[in-house]
Amino acid sequence: MAFFKLIALLCLLAVSALNVKGEVRKFPDTLSFGVATAAYQIEGGWNASDKGENIWDRFTHTTDTIKDRSNGDVACDSYNQHKRDVEMLKELGVDFYRFSISWSRILPEGFSNRLSQDGIAYYDSLINDLIQANITPSITLYHWDLPQNLQDLGGWANPLMVDYFIDFAEVAFEAFGDRVKTWITFNEPWVVCIEGYGGVTKAPALGISGIAEYMCAHTILKAHAKAYHLYDEVYRPIQNGRIGMSLNAGWDEPATQSPADIEAAQRNTQFNLGWYAHPVFSREGDYPQVMKDRVAQKSLEQGYSRSRLPEFTPEEIAYIRGTYDFFGLNHYTTTLVRMPTMRSIAKANFWDDVGTEGFPDPSWPGSASSWLKVVPWGFRKLLNWINENYNNPEIMVFENGFSDRDNKDDVDRISYYNGYLNALMDAIEDGCNVSIYTAWSLMDNFEWLEGYTERFGLYYVDFNDPRRPRTPKASALYYKSVLDSRTIERD
Ligand code: GAL
Repeated sequence: MAFFKLIALLCLLAVSALNVKGEVRKFPDTLSFGVATAAYQIEGGWNASDKGENIWDRFTHTTDTIKDRSNGDVACDSYNQHKRDVEMLKELGVDFYRFSISWSRILPEGFSNRLSQDGIAYYDSLINDLIQANITPSITLYHWDLPQNLQDLGGWANPLMVDYFIDFAEVAFEAFGDRVKTWITFNEPWVVCIEGYGGVTKAPALGISGIAEYMCAHTILKAHAKAYHLYDEVYRPIQNGRIGMSLNAGWDEPATQSPADIEAAQRNTQFNLGWYAHPVFSREGDYPQVMKDRVAQKSLEQGYSRSRLPEFTPEEIAYIRGTYDFFGLNHYTTTLVRMPTMRSIAKANFWDDVGTEGFPDPSWPGSASSWLKVVPWGFRKLLNWINENYNNPEIMVFENGFSDRDNKDDVDRISYYNGYLNALMDAIEDGCNVSIYTAWSLMDNFEWLEGYTERFGLYYVDFNDPRRPRTPKASALYYKSVLDSRTIERD
């Protein structure tokens, strides 16, 4: 036995000796590369033609919460400049482009009673130009811009929104599904519900924590599942594409190796990623057990007559389970997690339900975003965690990127991408089945509450110039060289 252990150790040493800094690593041929954007963040044309008002139009026009008092009225002006966007995509040499559809641009009233021909024509033209350029289009249906009149009816807290989302999805499948073969139902439902319904840092900023985010998630999970089934039964046989959602997740690293901190980190993952992933990707379906138990118990202690976490019926659990063709993942950063020092509070609150504390290691390099620290190894750990917990699904990374302030010579972004692409390679070598990698973002754009003060682009956009000229940053050239060679250097 000892002999075999020695041999194994020697093999390991020999292999790690080969892992030399600067060594060229080749990506598998099965991995495709792209970039992503979202409608509200780049399009502008907020009232062009017959487009209806959405919750971000309303939020930015009627509150003063955006850092630089800006909005997406013009943004990158992609509504008028999508041909330039396609040129940039060609310059980069991407395999695909992930963009989102503005619901109120194609359905001005939110409902499918009236379609905007101009809205449909805009996306038609973009899709056709992409195909002509040999770039695969992939569409996100919902990237946070709900039509305002659907919000006035309760938005995602209203269970009937499931059917209105399906109407929208159906219009999109009908109009674009002959050419679009990758569909993402929802982008980061966690952010939609936590920040927009429980909190106030995204539209519609309801701030009803411990209640509204659970209602929101419940509706979104059902809407996602129904869109999956619709596509699967009606459109897949004729259009032959694939559909899933894209979940945001950081990696939760236990702050210490104490059993309490390890448990806290696991619970944090279940309350955040597991909240959406467990119902869809686990064998048993439904919300994670730890979440059901804790919210039920806290609700009881707080005097509620039932758990603030709504329950799925057994039929709903079965209907939602397995509604994926891939695991869409948006990943940016890692957090240290520990058991909280604070006592729990009497009022309903999501963070109290989770009962953990997250904080960064002070040695991790930062970015322009307070939450975004550079920790490539967390990416590898997260991919492996998904692989182990959800039965080795095909993972499509739909967002990964770095923010800075105003810098075309963006060496920190290059180092971020190089680190994270190495971590991706490590995860692939570990056995994770990753087929898509997407950089966020093609160009600087409207970064929600931060306005234009945090830039994530490979292309620099001059927001002071009415023509919104775009210039490649150093990172665009770096990404292009990765895409041309399909290799990176070991860091
Ligand atoms: C994601 C989001 C994007 C983008 C990015 C950078 O959460 O999907 O729209 O803003 O973060 O913060």
